[in-house]
Amino acid sequence: MTRRTESLSDELYDYLLSVSLREQDALRRLRAETGALEEARMQIGPEQGQFMALLVELLGARRTLEVGTFTGYSALVVALALPAEGRVVACDVSEEWTRIARRYWDEAGVGHKIDLRLGPAVATLGGLVREGGRGTFDFAFIDADKPNYDAYYELALELLRPGGLMAIDNTLWSGKVIDTSVTDADTEAIRRLNMKLRADERVTLSLVPIGDGLTLARKR
Ligand SMILES: C[S@@+](CC[C@H](N)C(=O)[O-])C[C@H]1O[C@@H](n2cnc3c(N)ncnc32)[C@H](O)[C@@H]1O
Repeated sequence: MTRRTESLSDELYDYLLSVSLREQDALRRLRAETGALEEARMQIGPEQGQFMALLVELLGARRTLEVGTFTGYSALVVALALPAEGRVVACDVSEEWTRIARRYWDEAGVGHKIDLRLGPAVATLGGLVREGGRGTFDFAFIDADKPNYDAYYELALELLRPGGLMAIDNTLWSGKVIDTSVTDADTEAIRRLNMKLRADERVTLSLVPIGDGLTLARKR
């Protein structure tokens, strides 16, 4: 019926959620609390969270990494999808936002699965590499400051095992990637990484038009 991705009207988006979203109570309440914050737009959508949980299940993931945690929705959805021994190493710089995150992780009974590392994520990931973490992660989600996206990509690629999957958020950047009048540092960083990924033979690639664009890169 169509040879390209449909764009979603508000009504079609609501329908999509009504027939497919299975959101646990803690996730729903966390989304409601975050929705009252000025920065609410930083949170991923629930259908993206559910998609990532499915990927984590498909991978049989045990060790996962997150760069950019905010109030904890994406880490929570991944932690809930992991087996009992599964772990998320979650990186952020904000004590204030991750305090909210910790509350919901504990309420949902998965606080022990999430190892929150507060500090600039380039240093945290570099530390994981130095501590022998190379090739030990099954899944990595990149969703923090855009100028560091290339550094996060390179470090996360080192940390993933062959066959492991990286999911990079905001790769369509609300359409600004194709607006030539937009030349700010965030937009340029996303454009550069998208172009680099296009030609990067180290990964198998798909840019999925879910949320703000989610690029999937499987380490070969
Ligand atoms: C888009 S939000 C993450 C949203 C989150 N994944 C979710 O689903 O709710 C980006 C986060 O990156 C964090 N951040 C920004 N710069 C950072 C840095 N240099 N190192 C680590 N985290 C950073 C911010 O504090 C913010 O919480």
